[in-house]
Amino acid sequence: MLPHGEEKPPSRRMKRYWKIAVLANIKDESQQKPEGVPPDAFADFDHIETVDSLRSALETDGHTTVFIQADRDLPYALREEQPDICFNIAEGLGGDAREAQVPALLEMQGIPYTGSRVLTNGISLDKTLTKRIWRDRRLPVAPFQEFTIGDEPIRPELEFPLFVKPAREGTGMGVDMNAIVHNEKELRDRANYIINTYMQPALVETFLPGREFTVGVMGRADAKLYSRHPEWYEKDGFHRFPILELDSSRSVTPLVYSQAAKSKEVGEEGAPGYFCPAPLEPELEKKLKTFALRAHQLIYALDISRTDIRLDKDGNPRLIEINTLPGLTPDYSDLCLQAKSEGIRYEDLILDILYLGASRWGMLEPREYPQDTSKKK
Ligand SMILES: Nc1ncnc2c1ncn2[C@@H]1O[C@H](COP(=O)(O)OP(=O)(O)OP(=O)(O)O)[C@@H](O)[C@H]1O
Ligand SMILES: [Mg+2]
Repeated sequence: MLPHGEEKPPSRRMKRYWKIAVLANIKDESQQKPEGVPPDAFADFDHIETVDSLRSALETDGHTTVFIQADRDLPYALREEQPDICFNIAEGLGGDAREAQVPALLEMQGIPYTGSRVLTNGISLDKTLTKRIWRDRRLPVAPFQEFTIGDEPIRPELEFPLFVKPAREGTGMGVDMNAIVHNEKELRDRANYIINTYMQPALVETFLPGREFTVGVMGRADAKLYSRHPEWYEKDGFHRFPILELDSSRSVTPLVYSQAAKSKEVGEEGAPGYFCPAPLEPELEKKLKTFALRAHQLIYALDISRTDIRLDKDGNPRLIEINTLPGLTPDYSDLCLQAKSEGIRYEDLILDILYLGASRWGMLEPREYPQDTSKKK
């Protein structure tokens, strides 16, 4: 039996070239933000240039593409465009599991799409829930507590300094230097600010002062059968990207990979330093890669993810969060930098994400059938 979420529906008519709809929420800088939204609202939306890059990459293999904005008109646009498959990078539009909205709609309409499915994208956006799952299976996470009203009694295992952030945001939203709090007053003030501004719980965890890494994985057990680059995948079907280390010491927000730091171009003044592959002891490197893969599997992530990990004050890795819709802007997004550092071209990365997804929906013949050993004595 295949792992959760990897069941294949009956084969579709095999076509060599597909019509692919790239689904995304695009930033519209010209539009005024609605009232009452946080100062960094929509920071995780994509620029149209990212969609253009994805489309060009997909078209290099002969497919045709169309961009559809993942807004409330998406169901009508899908009916009109009739794509064979969607390349999904949509962040969604509010609610408690916005990254799961587009997958849910596509599942309902029976339209194939790339990447993780509904449940996973709902869980991974919720950092508290994700950490509860990881902690339950002994993956190392910092002590944490979710504040929903702000004046909850503080759990004894939480020692200052603490780190306070929205439980369900990405791209450093709600994360700046004030996220680090040193006493109860600062903690209460920050938790209340997060709860009231972002209209969601505040996740409070031990501040991790050590090195910061982001660890990408791609694949699944039978990836070699569908990939254009089977040599990328290890025996277990997964590719581990070179680990990227962030050096925030000279960034606009020293020690914190904040929204302000993330919005800087690579190499720009105030941007963090990026080292890829990170200079690592083989033992620590192995640990980080093992944790990232377990983190991916434990929430049933599919095809691709990026897990953020930091070292605690004793130098032990602690998992911070997982991104099941990692940014895919060429030469900018962490995962693209990781792929590039080992010579994987952007086009090839994007096409492998496509084919891993498509094969799960029965759109591709496997490269070769696994040997049938059942008749052997
Ligand atoms: N417990 C912690 N201790 C120290 N720093 C932290 C902690 N939690 C988060 N950070 C810092 O804040 C940054 C953003 O946090 P996190 O990765 O949870 O948020 P995000 O906005 O979802 O990120 P992404 O852009 O990867 O989606 C981290 O990269 C790290 O620098
Ligand atoms: Mg992160």
